[in-house]
Amino acid sequence: MIQVRVKPGVEDSIRAFFPWVYKRDIMGYSKKPQKGDLVVVRDYAGRFLGYGYVNPDSAISVRILSFEKEEPIDKELIRKRIQKAIEYRKRLNLQSDAYRLVHSEGDLLPGLVVDVYGDYVVVELSTYGMSKLKHWVFEALVDLLKPKGIYQKIGEYASSSEGMEDEEGVVHGSVPEEVVITEGDLKYKVQISAGQKTGFFLDQRRERRFIRKLVREKSHCLDLFCYTGGFALNMKRAGAEKVVAVDISDRALQTAKLNAELNNLSGIEWVEANAFDYLRKLQSEGRKFDLVVMDPPPFAKSSSSIQNAMRGYKELLIRALHIVKPQGYIAFYSCSFHITEEHLLKALFEAVKDVRKRVRIIGKSFQDLDHPWLLQIPNTLYLKGIYAEVL
Ligand SMILES: C[S@@+](CC[C@H](N)C(=O)[O-])C[C@H]1O[C@@H](n2cnc3c(N)ncnc32)[C@H](O)[C@@H]1O
Repeated sequence: MIQVRVKPGVEDSIRAFFPWVYKRDIMGYSKKPQKGDLVVVRDYAGRFLGYGYVNPDSAISVRILSFEKEEPIDKELIRKRIQKAIEYRKRLNLQSDAYRLVHSEGDLLPGLVVDVYGDYVVVELSTYGMSKLKHWVFEALVDLLKPKGIYQKIGEYASSSEGMEDEEGVVHGSVPEEVVITEGDLKYKVQISAGQKTGFFLDQRRERRFIRKLVREKSHCLDLFCYTGGFALNMKRAGAEKVVAVDISDRALQTAKLNAELNNLSGIEWVEANAFDYLRKLQSEGRKFDLVVMDPPPFAKSSSSIQNAMRGYKELLIRALHIVKPQGYIAFYSCSFHITEEHLLKALFEAVKDVRKRVRIIGKSFQDLDHPWLLQIPNTLYLKGIYAEVL
């Protein structure tokens, strides 16, 4: 196996289970590696540090899967990790037949996301190294879960940053265009191939449920960036008198409407619009809401876009503060790991200063428990949320 030596000093973080080796930290290879090769990582003096896979073209050149000399990367290791992931999800009692089974580094399987939708599985590959191990992944999933079908998706940046050539499609059994899942007392249609991400935002499950606590009798609620209606349906089920749900995607809204029918929920106004423009319109019309939820796509896809993202959050918050009634609530989230809880609070702090309103924080959130995050890899904690009450 190819040996990779890291520069002096780098071994400390790897011994503390940091699983990435950056290109700049590599002292040399025993032989020129090919993308996806399995490698042994050693310190500058040749002492064993771990086993990983390599992509010499990528800024993160090695991702370590095992720190144990006796545990090389093989079919057994992959199966064991997936087995452990299954056992952990079983303990969570998520009240849903849709869940994240593998959350990349959070389940010690970098480059791999596995989402389960009832009898079907969606695998998302985001590194070249993991795409070379995918047959072991599929084999373990078929054996341990016995799904009716597995659909392969490719991560957003996989072809640009990793040079991946894999294509999306069915890799086992058959997978329908649409699967109906159950989350608590609600059902949702999930578009497997055409939907965003792997089809559904499983990470917000706990918050969709929590939002019901903020719906008072006769409440008027606004679900901005609603996708297929997750928050809107919960608002209505909790007894909201009126719900307005907004998304820029016509396809998402078509599914959202079908989801409302599927659950016998009427009285939701579905609006296809840019949320920023729509908020301005609501303000100019003088409309007011008791609860405003904002769950936008990631505004900061890299650290260089944090400032722009902050401007986006501040603008959304200012507009939301204008239309929320006294004693009303604002729930807002960020699914960009570059944006921390402190960033969100700072954006809120600046927004309330501008509009001269008093708020108190009543809660905060992060991704649901089937998306565990690894302390050493902050990227695995990407979703955060703040709940504020306007006084
Ligand atoms: C993170 S998802 C929301 C998930 C949703 N809350 C749920 O529980 O399923 C973000 C959504 O924002 C939508 N979107 C992106 N940009 C938008 C914009 N400028 N205005 C309105 N919607 C937008 C996307 O189409 C996507 O459906």
